[in-house]
Amino acid sequence: MSDSKHSGERVELPAAARSGTVCTASDYDGMYARSLDDSDSFWAEQAQRIDWVAEPTKVADWSFDPVAISWFTGGTLNICHNAVDRHVAAGNGARTALIFEPDDPDGTVRKISYAKLQRDVITMANTLKKMGVSKGDRVTIYMPMVPEGAMAMLACARIGAVHSVIFGGFSPEAIAGRIVDCRSDWVITADEGRRGGKPIALKKNVDEALDKVPNRGVLVFRNTGCPVTMVEGRDHWFHELSQDVPDDCPCEPMAAEDPLFILYTSGSTGKPKGVLHTTGGYAVWTETTFRFVFDYRENEVFWCTADIGWVTGHSYIVYGPLLNGATALMFEGVPNWPDHDRFWQVIDKHQVNIFYTAPTAIRALMREGNDHVTRHDLSSLRLLGSVGEPINPEAWRWYHDTVGKGAIPIVDTWWQTETGGVMITTLPGAHDMKPGSAGKPFFGICPQLVDGEGAVLEGEAEGNLCITRSWPGQARTLYGDHDRFVQTYFSTYPGKYFTGDGCRRDDDGYYWITGRVDDVINVSGHRMGTAEVESALVLHPKVSEAAVVGFPHDIKGQGIYCYVTLNAGEEAGDALTAELRQWVRKEIGPIATPDELHFTPALPKTRSGKIMRRILRKIAENEFASLGDISTLADPAVVEALVAGRKAR
Ligand code: WT7
Repeated sequence: MSDSKHSGERVELPAAARSGTVCTASDYDGMYARSLDDSDSFWAEQAQRIDWVAEPTKVADWSFDPVAISWFTGGTLNICHNAVDRHVAAGNGARTALIFEPDDPDGTVRKISYAKLQRDVITMANTLKKMGVSKGDRVTIYMPMVPEGAMAMLACARIGAVHSVIFGGFSPEAIAGRIVDCRSDWVITADEGRRGGKPIALKKNVDEALDKVPNRGVLVFRNTGCPVTMVEGRDHWFHELSQDVPDDCPCEPMAAEDPLFILYTSGSTGKPKGVLHTTGGYAVWTETTFRFVFDYRENEVFWCTADIGWVTGHSYIVYGPLLNGATALMFEGVPNWPDHDRFWQVIDKHQVNIFYTAPTAIRALMREGNDHVTRHDLSSLRLLGSVGEPINPEAWRWYHDTVGKGAIPIVDTWWQTETGGVMITTLPGAHDMKPGSAGKPFFGICPQLVDGEGAVLEGEAEGNLCITRSWPGQARTLYGDHDRFVQTYFSTYPGKYFTGDGCRRDDDGYYWITGRVDDVINVSGHRMGTAEVESALVLHPKVSEAAVVGFPHDIKGQGIYCYVTLNAGEEAGDALTAELRQWVRKEIGPIATPDELHFTPALPKTRSGKIMRRILRKIAENEFASLGDISTLADPAVVEALVAGRKAR
């Protein structure tokens, strides 16, 4: 174990992890070099693990200036066939595809074999067709974390419809905005969801959204059995409409570049971005990254604790595992209900081998003490993973020592909604680990650090993280707005994909993500655009102006700090604080709930009227000594008042 300030603490890979692995230390260097030097043959080889209806005639075909990205041109395939049917055809129909662990620990566990999954997806696909859905249509999926959510995605993919999954925690306003943006005519939902013992009114939220944006059809699953309103001619119960549908449904052959899904994510402006992924490249990328990063071995149980409403759930609950014929656990609940040991109890109960979660959950559980962990048998675990934000070394240590008993590797996987799958990580049989560092680039990934002016930084350096070459799982565009795609990712440093993250590379070539460098904050591993929260706040009739920044939060990583100015005559106070918190929850969803509301008569602005966010960030971080130059402010006294206000909180 070395301990240098610059290259970080090195935790050696346990000897046991080095054998029987899909990629050893000596394999990695050669394979990584080949993935760049001989990229087409490398990816053509990986693509052979996919069943193509027609083989691709070209592998990589892309440019970052102008921006046009294509992979596996000429190929046709269906990802549902690859994730489901081919495993059944290969004689593995009896293998478990999904294990469902319900919110209520005493509820019914479901084990769904690949054969059953195939039958259920066929029924669902035919039901969608019966409702009127056809190839190319956008279908909004607003489902609880139950197997039918995954089946809905696969059923869309089977018939060539483009799914747009919306996380169950989003509000009716957020649903409506996304439906309008991708002109989705169809919704798949359930009567109600359940998390941590509490109901989530899914159908009611959909109804409110559709008051604003009428849709052609809503397919509704009965989940909890709660009463719901069904709109005649628009809403269909799945269990009724699915009666008498045929029991076969051919998989629609899709061109490699046909859209597979849209997933909305936050950016620096108020309007969420509809990130578009296509079929062939995403299939190859999720199949390959899952296989190497998690080193999956036959019959193992893989558990990713994300929700299918996020990209992590798309790639590592549904597509990555199923493309590999793996067994994926789907968990409806939360880490701390009914008690803080729920994760560890579930690992024990289902003999989970690979566990993939987020630093925010690790930190929250760490503070509940070790007894919650040690009273369960976690000896089935072989590999741990982390995703969503940088993991602080203290949390890494606890995860490694207490959960992993110091004996198994951790992969800290850096990636984004736009990257489709893991980009930077150590490989579990190849690399020593460094707590807090994601590690090394995955095959085919060319990270580059640049300074503010775009100059390339070599060797040990810190700068803005760009990726210089395309990879199969890269997002192709923002739905309906290619200009915004180009503008957002390829204009800051022309010819390069800019991630929006800051990053340091150490002298061992390990990458350390330092966090977002744009107006995006990372709250509990979820990306939140500060402008989105500001837009929601200023919609309130009493609010004149708002500026939102992130600040360090023990559990969430970053919390949401809102500076608010009120219209003349309005009174700040606890009641308005509560009202505004509730307001933002209603506008966006509970994940956007402000942690701090700081009422101020004015915001610090330059003489040209631009809000000085840098200063607001520092004040929220309690970093008063380093406010920097405030001489360009129109009214420097504003800052003194804000500092005094922050100190008094
Ligand atoms: C942003 C992407 C990837 C799925 C979950 C989030 C941050 C993600 C890590 C990590 C440091 C990370 C980055 C990135 N991030 N994983 N292992 N270490 N930072 O997807 O909502 O698209 O957010 O999450 O800042 O840009 P997302």
